Amino acid sequence: MSTGLEIDPRLDLFEEIARLKKEKNAVILAHYYQDADIQDIADFIGDSLQLSQEAAKTNASIILFAGVHFMAETAKIISPTKKVILPDMAAGCSLADSCPPEAFKAFKDKHPDHVVVSYINCSAAIKALTDIVCTSSNAEKIIESIPKDKKIIFAPDRNLGAYLKKKTGRDMVLWDGACMVHEIFSLEKLLRLKERHLAAEVLAHPECEAAILDHADFIGSTTAILNYALQSEKKQFIVVTESGILHQMRKAAPDKEFIPAPPNANCACNDCPHMKLNTLEKIYLCLRDESPEIILDEALRVAASASIERMLAISK
Ligand code: 13P
Ligand code: SF4
Repeated sequence: MSTGLEIDPRLDLFEEIARLKKEKNAVILAHYYQDADIQDIADFIGDSLQLSQEAAKTNASIILFAGVHFMAETAKIISPTKKVILPDMAAGCSLADSCPPEAFKAFKDKHPDHVVVSYINCSAAIKALTDIVCTSSNAEKIIESIPKDKKIIFAPDRNLGAYLKKKTGRDMVLWDGACMVHEIFSLEKLLRLKERHLAAEVLAHPECEAAILDHADFIGSTTAILNYALQSEKKQFIVVTESGILHQMRKAAPDKEFIPAPPNANCACNDCPHMKLNTLEKIYLCLRDESPEIILDEALRVAASASIERMLAISK
């Protein structure tokens, strides 16, 4: 595998990436949690649903996914004939890791008459054990598409699951997983911040704990949070999600103030360490070498694709 040491320091990485993209008919899909520079070179920036819809319809030969492993894997599941590359294979996800397939299979077997809905932040093996995938932007719609008399398992995020139970009134069995970034926000610090910014609206991602969500003026996916802030008449916002989203917010509304919510410790833990493994250097090498590539066992891919296709059909 390539290392950053091979890069000629005189290269203009922005130019080189643009050249390689054209030469190789490649597209760069980036999640909002990527660094500002990466968002700026991307062809498409979006939340998990938009990224999977984009992966399904692109005409590019190569998809470079500036995000984490489950996102690139989802792109490969949907677009098997395309080469899908991920700048750093170690870019995982604590939420996806909190749901190992063997343990989930045993959990599912204990609830045989349940429809399984899984948040897209899970592995292909979990998607293969799932009836319908969802993202934070369509989760409510997906739950509501299931007949009222059907019992539901929701995996792997207990916070999003608890939020959906409250919103939809459905009594779902929840897998006990969580995201390390969204669980780290401090309620005490958020309340102090709110006191200092009385006019600010609190915008939160549903992966946060209920105690945080109880103090939010708006709860939604990264795209929904961004759109809400842009159309709101308010000028100040406390943003309770990964810090990468602030780049697009500040770019689109330079007259508004976006304040990142404080984490528990004095650290940068509202930066996702997995998302932040991607760098411009790694993106350049990944495009140049067309590696690391997502390779999936075909039987697993086919098994996982049905649950994503159902989600895409419901979300049209
Ligand atoms: P969305 O962008 O779909 O809101 O997902 C957030 C997230 O945690 C991605 O890892
Ligand atoms: Fe996973 Fe959380 Fe990072 Fe998203 S922010 S990739 S859910 S660890």
